[in-house]
Amino acid sequence: MTGDANVSGKISIRNVSKIFNENKDNEVVALKNVHLDIEPGELVSLVGPSGCGKSTLLRLVAGLETATDGELLLDETPIQGPHYDRGLVFQDPSLFPWLTVYGNVASGLKARKLYDKKSNTVEEYIKMIGLEGFEKSYPHQLSGGMAQRVSLARSFANQPKVLLLDEPFGALDAFTRMNMQDELLKIWTEREITALLVTHDIDEAIYLSDRIVIMTPRPGKIEEIIEVKTSRPRARNNEDFLHLRVRILETLNFAKRADDLSYYL
Ligand SMILES: Nc1ncnc2c1ncn2[C@@H]1O[C@H](COP(=O)(O)OP(=O)(O)O)[C@@H](O)[C@H]1O
Ligand SMILES: [Mg+2]
Repeated sequence: MTGDANVSGKISIRNVSKIFNENKDNEVVALKNVHLDIEPGELVSLVGPSGCGKSTLLRLVAGLETATDGELLLDETPIQGPHYDRGLVFQDPSLFPWLTVYGNVASGLKARKLYDKKSNTVEEYIKMIGLEGFEKSYPHQLSGGMAQRVSLARSFANQPKVLLLDEPFGALDAFTRMNMQDELLKIWTEREITALLVTHDIDEAIYLSDRIVIMTPRPGKIEEIIEVKTSRPRARNNEDFLHLRVRILETLNFAKRADDLSYYL
């Protein structure tokens, strides 16, 4: 989806390093010299073992952390903090429990004083994620998959340029997860939005991504970037798919430290 129609949503990550607890005895080099350009409308996944800095990189793009070194830009403008132009979806849908589905989806617009009851914006997003009829339900009345749909709709209602997803379907059962992957692809295609997805699920990355960024830890860095050229919709069991899976696992295994049993995803 790197179409010319899309003029914004370019993410530039330039030689970014992030050190936590710098100069203390518990110093962690979470990211070292990470360099990555993500084109408008592209869907890029970050995969790699726990602790390789995936969430840190996503949080830097979100503006929730600042880089120790290097630069992060959105459409050539430095990222200086969180903003509605970058929507966030986490594993935990973190809906407001006291608001209905409608209220949750409308919450961003209301906070920004952009909410207009007469326009059908909120209804449109509820429809987009297939939750018509559940407008008046509260979060505790929803399944995990439905709650995550609401979280997606809430992000989309703000019409961000970029969607940042940190293991968004990690807590869902396998069937719901596949369903949500299709849902994400559908709305990503409709909205031509740039998406950066953290996942520990290699199949999910292959199924969804234009490119897969493989990261390795200590220090967190990019090991390899794989382009997925198979056209969508992708079959989950064809030869290309299996090929890519083996290649990614080999890259991760090759980079593995022999003394680290917790390495596997
Ligand atoms: N706020 C923090 N303070 C100290 N260390 C952190 C902090 N956040 C992350 N780290 C460390 O940075 C490394 C990368 O973490 P993270 O980005 O969460 O990895 P991943 O998402 O790939 O599992 C880990 O070693 C983690 O313990
Ligand atoms: Mg993480």
